[in-house]
Amino acid sequence: MCGIVGYVGKKPVVDILLDGLEQLEYRGYDSSGIAIKTATSIDVYKAEGKLANLRDVLRPNADKITQSTMGIGHIRWATHGAPTVLNAHPHTCNCGNLVVVHNGIIENYKELRSELEAEGCTFRSQTDTETVSHLVASIYAEVKDLTKAVQIATKKIEGAYALCIMHNNEPEKLVVTKRNAPLLIGVGEGEFFVASDVPAIIKHTKKAIYLTDNQVATLTPNSLKIENEKEEEIEPKVEVLPWEPVALSKMGYKHFMLKEIHEQPDVIRNILVGKLHTSNSPIVLNEVKLNKETLKNLNRIQVIACGTSLHAAMIGKYIIENFCEIPVDVEASSEYIYRKTVTDEHTLVIGVSQSGETADTLTAIKQSKARGSHILIITNRPDSAMAREADSLVPVSAGIEVSVAATKSYIAQLTSFYLLALYMAEIKGTMAQSDLTNLKAEMLLLPQKIEQILAHKEEIQTCARKYANTRDFIYIARGINYPTALEGALKLKEISYINATGYPAGELKHGPIAMLDETMPVLSVLMKGSVYEKILSNSEEAKARNARMIALTNSTDAKLDDLFDFIIRVPEVTELLSPIVAMIPLQLIAYYIAEFLGKDVDQPRNLAKSVTVE
Ligand code: G6P
Repeated sequence: MCGIVGYVGKKPVVDILLDGLEQLEYRGYDSSGIAIKTATSIDVYKAEGKLANLRDVLRPNADKITQSTMGIGHIRWATHGAPTVLNAHPHTCNCGNLVVVHNGIIENYKELRSELEAEGCTFRSQTDTETVSHLVASIYAEVKDLTKAVQIATKKIEGAYALCIMHNNEPEKLVVTKRNAPLLIGVGEGEFFVASDVPAIIKHTKKAIYLTDNQVATLTPNSLKIENEKEEEIEPKVEVLPWEPVALSKMGYKHFMLKEIHEQPDVIRNILVGKLHTSNSPIVLNEVKLNKETLKNLNRIQVIACGTSLHAAMIGKYIIENFCEIPVDVEASSEYIYRKTVTDEHTLVIGVSQSGETADTLTAIKQSKARGSHILIITNRPDSAMAREADSLVPVSAGIEVSVAATKSYIAQLTSFYLLALYMAEIKGTMAQSDLTNLKAEMLLLPQKIEQILAHKEEIQTCARKYANTRDFIYIARGINYPTALEGALKLKEISYINATGYPAGELKHGPIAMLDETMPVLSVLMKGSVYEKILSNSEEAKARNARMIALTNSTDAKLDDLFDFIIRVPEVTELLSPIVAMIPLQLIAYYIAEFLGKDVDQPRNLAKSVTVE
């Protein structure tokens, strides 16, 4: 969701900025740009599309800028204005002396723009960000101090922002500030780095300061000054980042997505280490601070999340209600935050987020925290903004996920939900010991079952090729696998742009069945258990309308052969754990269809991996 970087120090800045932006490409790839301070001016370079295009733009200019040691950069996920060069950041003021990169949304940009245009500013882009460059520049013209100008300007700005700003008259100074958007400052020897996220700076330093909302930091090669909203200087809190630089490699796979799908058996193994030793040992979740007393006082659980994490949350509801007998509601964070939500100290609020930074979920969490609820965060980023709000934490430990379409982080979130539900069930005593033991024993076998599926991926590839040239795709399931159908459809939509929809199989007859004909593939998630026969009947109804029927099943039932045109078989698994096993072929189907169609699998159009605007 836009990434910003900045550097002031003694080293050549261009590669530092480009490397940093490359690490932030998961936040958007609509356009990119950098601004470099030279001896006399600030030079701005921008390109539409991926970062590689910016590198092409810079190549002929390399001699002019290789010696520069200060600059800012941006990678964009378009919110206001099309993804063109004109709308790419950095944005400048009319005289070109001030440049700004921004992540977030300036909500009152229209009002500000009218005021600034009335003062004589000429706008060149359709972005909200350009108001910031004109606003700060016009204040700077009076106060002649960049920090002061930013402090005054931000009091007039409404919305969310992380900003990094420089001015040609202040040759060794970056000014940065933030409100409801991530920003950290990397601390080096005679140098400072600015970034939206750790991967952009970790190669250079492990020491960082997380700026908090409304603080303004002024950075020069040898000095750092942080002021709060009242313009009082505050002592910087330097943290050591719990990260190692990792060289991200596809390890021979064609795409990161395929590599990440293959990592899933090990992801589950890693999560279980230290938390689930044997089928007879209790679940250990060291950072979960729920005891018998707090659980007794709970009257409900509210789970909030977005996108793929929302589908994990829906399965979380199913298993927590089943294992722990506590009512659970699940809601998209973006809906949760704009209504009168009833939560209090008797509600456990669980936020689920791969990134731990998604703006809607973060806002929802903060609202619930203010109402006194215990906040439990399930995230792949234990250093994230959400994790910092948490009373209890379940780190999902999936490792860095590069592909924008989430795969291993989803399976890791599901595994974590099972651990959490079992942990609470053990404390509450709501599950029979034999059920607990059986389920834990099956969980320990999950990595092998996934390996068995991956060993037969060619069969899934064949299925994908057979159905790749379709405009629409329907996934049906019931019960615990209804969210599996939703997630399978989401994966296909995200990377192949095919109009795929997941339905509760029983709802097909209440409308969607009207769409069925001999062109429509219908994939039934048909796992053995309480709703098997019901889904079978719903599949018959679809077959009767000539749909192209596909089964994803762990059944060897011979009658499936007549009903389905293609059958994908997965290993035997108990119904309660089946969402983990069933999801793997659906990830592979989406992957192979998109790959067959020649789509940009790892960086699908219009998407960003982390969405830090509401
Ligand atoms: C974006 C990503 C999705 C992700 C969603 C929620 O839309 O493209 O893959 O599921 O954000 O992200 P989170 O980091 O909160 O899980």
